[in-house]
Amino acid sequence: MKTRHTPFVLAIALALGACGSKEEAEEAAKKAPTPGELIAGQPIVHGPEIKEIEMTKPLDQIWVEGGKAIYETKCLPCHKLDDKRIVGPGWAGVTKRREALWIMNMICNTDKMLNEDPEAQKQLELCLVRMPNQNVSVEDARKLLEFMRSNDGEN
Ligand code: HEC
Repeated sequence: MKTRHTPFVLAIALALGACGSKEEAEEAAKKAPTPGELIAGQPIVHGPEIKEIEMTKPLDQIWVEGGKAIYETKCLPCHKLDDKRIVGPGWAGVTKRREALWIMNMICNTDKMLNEDPEAQKQLELCLVRMPNQNVSVEDARKLLEFMRSNDGEN
């Protein structure tokens, strides 16, 4: 009888272990919807492909604040601000390892990136969860990028 349960238990252990602990994710996301809720029923939408971006120096603090608010409602269940992976990769250093335009397209044009971009696909292989398109507008994506730059220590 004991052996009959093993594959099931193993499957759960693998699912939980794949990208960090589930408890950790749940704690970070107390008020936000769960990743499952965000993924469920998501249509595949091809967002706009972003080809140009305006960079600021110094950072636009109003965008940073706006980006933080969007992060807390739409991204926090899956992304931490340090380098720890929960469902998706932690954001620490993301603006150093990725081009600004790449990040913008990952946010707005998620499905196309996951279908076609080798770097995005590498992350998908690691995380085993497909990042859902969050229907983020280009302006909001730009604010999120500003918040990520601030999180990476830019002023
Ligand atoms: C349901 C979980 C989930 C949500 C919600 C989510 N993401 Fe993701 N994200 C992922 C996963 C998983 C990956 C890795 C690629 C993959 O597996 O699809 C990822 C990858 C990324 C990457 C690339 C990171 C890197 O290091 O290459 C960026 C940038 C990103 N997400 C931004 C966002 C933003 C901005 C939001 C909120 C608007 C968001 N994500 C919401 C799961 C999520």
